Amino acid sequence: MSRCYLNININLILHLNLTSTLTSTLTSTLTLFKNQKAKHMIYMADTANLDELRELYSFFPLEGVTTNPTILSHSGHKLSESIQGIQELVGTGMVHVQMISVETDDMVREAKKYRSYFDFGDNFYAKIPVTANGYKAMRILKDAGINVTATVIFTQQQALVAMKAGADFVAPYVNRLDNISSHGIEVVGDIVENIETYGLKGRVLAASFKTVDQIYRVSMAGSHAATISAELLHQLITHPMTDIGVKQFEIDAEGLYDIEF
Ligand code: E4P
Repeated sequence: MSRCYLNININLILHLNLTSTLTSTLTSTLTLFKNQKAKHMIYMADTANLDELRELYSFFPLEGVTTNPTILSHSGHKLSESIQGIQELVGTGMVHVQMISVETDDMVREAKKYRSYFDFGDNFYAKIPVTANGYKAMRILKDAGINVTATVIFTQQQALVAMKAGADFVAPYVNRLDNISSHGIEVVGDIVENIETYGLKGRVLAASFKTVDQIYRVSMAGSHAATISAELLHQLITHPMTDIGVKQFEIDAEGLYDIEF
């Protein structure tokens, strides 16, 4: 049911003076829909390279870092050093660490261990793949008060089930979907629509990008967050026309500004 349709109905009900209970129920439904709408897309860095992260964090308004075993294997450090370094850099920002275990109990133990080992607070997210064991672990971890990011998602159904199992974020793999002749942006759009339609608490953390255009399109599809490589984060803020414009201003300003600062 579209928001516009609900708006019209609320006005109608007010006009007809129907019961206040019905009116307030519809009003809170509308408020819920509004709340689920992303206010802005969160940018996160999809890298464990501490030099890259240090540079990015010096200028890019990032709200967190995501890792997976592949990303960590490229960092040149063991897990403890990488995560420690990331934690120091992000401060109160989010740190999403993927579990390596495959059995439910092991995933739960692993997540709890990382949370205490690194003295994480609420900014720690246990990244759990959407396997049967993973779904089970999500519920257990949520009940234990640990944030969960469901990952390795390729379908809207996997995401929906993960959110029902308690996942705070769901991470669909955009580029990997595009590469198998599927449509990553559409999957992201469908999950966003589900969240709005059903008033779910989960948020979409779009992942796996190879082009700036994919990032542009997930932001237009209403993704709540995107995790992006250092290379693409640099690319998405640069434009040759910006460089030319800035250079020309520099030239034109020569000898003109006579106030010291
Ligand atoms: C993020 O958390 C994902 O693990 C990551 O974006 C996957 O990216 P890839 O498809 O480039 O490996």
